Amino acid sequence: MIILVNKFLEGKGALITGGASGFGKATAFTFAENGADLILVDRNEELLEEASKQVEKKYATKVIPIICDVSDSKCVKKMTDQAFDELDNIYVLFNNAGLATTYGVDIISVGEKAWDTTMNINLKGQWLVDKFVSRKMNRQKFEPLRGKIIHNASHYGIVLSPFVPLYSISKAGVIALNKLIAKTLAPHITSNVLAPGFHVTGIYGNREDIMLQVMKDGDVKTPLNRIGTIEDVVNLVLFLASEKSNFITGHCFTVDGGITEAGVPSHRLEVNV
Ligand SMILES: NC(=O)c1ccc[n+]([C@@H]2O[C@H](COP(=O)([O-])OP(=O)(O)OC[C@H]3O[C@@H](n4cnc5c(N)ncnc54)[C@H](O)[C@@H]3O)[C@@H](O)[C@H]2O)c1
Repeated sequence: MIILVNKFLEGKGALITGGASGFGKATAFTFAENGADLILVDRNEELLEEASKQVEKKYATKVIPIICDVSDSKCVKKMTDQAFDELDNIYVLFNNAGLATTYGVDIISVGEKAWDTTMNINLKGQWLVDKFVSRKMNRQKFEPLRGKIIHNASHYGIVLSPFVPLYSISKAGVIALNKLIAKTLAPHITSNVLAPGFHVTGIYGNREDIMLQVMKDGDVKTPLNRIGTIEDVVNLVLFLASEKSNFITGHCFTVDGGITEAGVPSHRLEVNV
C-alpha cells in the first residue's frame, strides 16, 4: 500500500531565528518533515551546528546554519542576503529568537544594561529580521500569499509580570510589532504572533524544576492542568505556516493551557500547575 504524504512545504524555504534550541530547533525538524529547505539562525555556534546536522541527517533536506546576533543590523542584513542566495525563496519566517534576562528585579530597580539587552534582542531583533527578510519575501511570486511571518512573543506580553518586567515589555512590543507588520504587508504576506505559556526549553536552562518555581512564584494556575510541551507550540507554528491559516493575519495566539484567556475557576484552584 502506498501512503501519500502531503509535504506542503516542498519547494519552499523557511528561515528560523533561534533555530539552535527549544521551539526553533523543534520547528526545524517539523518544517523539514514537511518538505521545507531551511535556514537556521542563532548566535550559539555550537548548538546551531549540532541542530543543523541533526535535521539534515534525519530528513536529507537542505539546512544552512547562519551564525548571527539578531540585535545587530549589519549581521541581520548579511544573514538575509546569504539566506536568499542559498535558497531561492523564504516562504516562512519564524521570528523566534529571544531570551529572558533579569528575574525578580522590579521595573524601578532594574538596570539600564539589562533594559538595553532585553529590548535589543527580543524586540529590536524581531523588527530587524522582519525589516530585511520581508523586503525580499515581498518580491516572491507565490500565490495567493508571497510569504508568511510568525513572531514569538509570550503570555507575559499580554499579562505583564512584575517578576520579569523587561521581558514582559519586550514581548508586549512584539505583539504590537506583529500588528503593524500585518497591516503593512497585507494583502501579500500574513503576520501572526504566538504567546506561549510555560514550556521547558533553554530559556529555563532546560530544567522543569526551575520553570515550576517560576510558576509558583507567580502563583500560576493552568486551567488545562499540565505544563506545556514544545510540541504544543510547534503544532501552532505548523498551522500558521500552512495554507489552512491563509485568512488569518495580525492575530496573537496564546498557547498556554488557558492561563491567559480562561483563568482557573475558584472551585479548581487546587490544580497542580
Ligand atoms: N519556553 C517558554 O516557556 C517560552 C514561553 C513564552 C515565550 N517563549 C519565547 O520562545 C522563543 C524561543 O525560546 P525558547 O523557549 O525556545 O528558548 P531557547 O533558549 O531554547 O531558544 C532560544 C534560542 O534563541 C537564541 N538566541 C538568543 N539570543 C539571540 C540573538 N541575539 N541572536 C540570535 N539568536 C539568539 C538562543 O541562542 C537559543 O538558541 C523566545 O522568543 C522566548 O522568549 C518561550
